[in-house]
Amino acid sequence: MSTFDPLALARPEIRALKPYASARALAGASGILLNANENPYAPQVESELSLNRYPDPQPARLKQRLAARYGVNENQLLITRGSDEGIDLLLRVFCRPNQDQVLICPPCFGMYGLSARIQGAVVIESPLIDTDAGFTINPNMAEQARNCRISFLCSPNNPTGNVIQRSALREFLKLQLERQQLVVMDEAYIEFAPDHSSLDLMDEFPNLIVLRTLSKAYALAGCRIGVAIANADIIALLRRIIAPYPLPTPTVELALQALSASAYAIQQQQLATMADEKTRLLAVLETLDTVQRIWPGHANFVLIKVEDAKDLIQQASEAGIRLRDQSAQPGLDNTVRISIGQPQENQALIDFLQGRFSQ
Ligand SMILES: Cc1ncc(COP(=O)(O)O)c(C=O)c1O
Repeated sequence: MSTFDPLALARPEIRALKPYASARALAGASGILLNANENPYAPQVESELSLNRYPDPQPARLKQRLAARYGVNENQLLITRGSDEGIDLLLRVFCRPNQDQVLICPPCFGMYGLSARIQGAVVIESPLIDTDAGFTINPNMAEQARNCRISFLCSPNNPTGNVIQRSALREFLKLQLERQQLVVMDEAYIEFAPDHSSLDLMDEFPNLIVLRTLSKAYALAGCRIGVAIANADIIALLRRIIAPYPLPTPTVELALQALSASAYAIQQQQLATMADEKTRLLAVLETLDTVQRIWPGHANFVLIKVEDAKDLIQQASEAGIRLRDQSAQPGLDNTVRISIGQPQENQALIDFLQGRFSQ
């Protein structure tokens, strides 16, 4: 096994940085707090939370609960403002502008390429290949990733829904480890396909970073909580540049509730309902004239190819239903992504589709 030193990969500026030391990080939150220029009085809002105080930069209870849920050590985990922030931090720590390359596999989540370009990284595209069995990684990906400091993979992938086969992932991780490069596995939708998680590869591959989020299966998109999971050295590097107090106190409190045992039981029921609803929607989509292709995928959405995506989206919008046009993505001409809603929402969509597009 190659030795791997993430510090050697970090931008020299980041390595040289003396990180900001916030009052809470330096001294904790107990005792008489006269060290952070806060207002000592509670604000005029209805809340029992200590909102006049700056929050814990990485709240201990939330960290414990997330580490236990994911089965990793606390020092392998950084809580961020959504996975969006995790993606941005990784690029800013590791990619030197106009120099370091980043691999993305379109069609994919747009923030990898956007954040990379904002950082000035050179974006290498390795398009997924559309096969009868759905989208798969490009056979040239390993070669294209040769000099890529970070390769962004996503499983299940947004918007195509495909998962990356474990054997292919292992092979790629091994190759990139030999090349001393990082691989990010975005698992935003993994709770919808739990058998496909790559978290257990973490110990074997110190170049693997897994991104999780509470925005999807945990139903907390409004709270903005993401988690980067990686070897402790990588986490320490990301911590150097994250904002001093990234996580608002109310958000943390709500995330703790969403991670309780009782919430978990309800979440499992919701996941089962969404899976049933997806099956129901897919059965209807199969019968529609306008639908030329369906990618059912492994997440809480389906992707379809239709005769005229703009027209479908426009008509749906007039009926009060918002769908997502994916046609601008390479290889996804006239495609529409449909998220699975609550049963009555899905029924409204089904009524609309059958009313307009059945023979
Ligand atoms: C694949 C993927 N990764 C990350 C995100 C962003 O998640 P978050 O809400 O945690 O920033 C999304 C959001 O749609 C996504 O689809």
